[in-house]
Amino acid sequence: FIALIFTIIIGYLLGSISFSYIIAKKIKKVDIRQHGSGNAGATNTLRVLGVGPAIAVLALDILKGIASVWIGVLFAADNTGLFPALAGFAAILGHNWPVYYGFRGGKGVATTIGVLATLVFFPALFAGIIAIISIILTRYVSLGSLLFTLLTVVFTFFLVDQFGYPFIYVYLTFIVACLSFWKHRANLTRLFNGTESKIGKKA
Ligand code: G3P
Repeated sequence: FIALIFTIIIGYLLGSISFSYIIAKKIKKVDIRQHGSGNAGATNTLRVLGVGPAIAVLALDILKGIASVWIGVLFAADNTGLFPALAGFAAILGHNWPVYYGFRGGKGVATTIGVLATLVFFPALFAGIIAIISIILTRYVSLGSLLFTLLTVVFTFFLVDQFGYPFIYVYLTFIVACLSFWKHRANLTRLFNGTESKIGKKA
C-alpha cells in the first residue's frame, strides 16, 4: 500500500512538470497561460512560440507520461496493472493541476498520449491514426484530442482479451476520456458554435 501511494505521488510530481510553461518562460520570458488559449500545452505553444518549441513540448510531455507508467511498472507489487495505471493517471492529474504552478496547468493530452501508448499501445495507435487524420482534415486539435481519448476506450474495450491487457486498463481509458472531455468543455462549446481556433491560422 505504501508503495502504491509512493508511486502515485511520484507520478503526480513528474506530471506536474509543465514543459510548455518552462519552455515559454525560457525562450520568450512569458507565462504561456497568459497567451493564446491560456492553456499550458503543446497546441498553445504552437500558437505562441511556433512549431519547434511545440514539438519539444509535445515530446517532453509525452515522455513524462511514459516515464510515470514505467515507474508504476517498477514499483508494481502485483500484475493487476493497478500501479502503472494509477501512476499514469496521477501524471495526467499533475499535468492538469500542477503543484509547482498554482495548480493551473493544461488539458493533459500529450501526457495522456504517453500514458495510453505505454499501457495499451495498439488501441492508442489506431485511435491516434484516426485523430491525426481528423486534425489534418479539420485543423481542430481539440477535436482530434477528444477523438483520441474516446476511441482509445472503444479499441481497448474490444481488444482487451486479444492483447491480454488487465481489465483495469479499460476503466482507466474511460476515466481518462471523461477527464479529457471535462477539461475540453470550453473547446467543445466553441466547436459547437463554430468558433474554435484552428491550427495554422491566427487565433
Ligand atoms: O492539447 C490541448 C488541445 O486539445 C486544445 O488546446 O490550447 O486549443 O485549448 P487549446
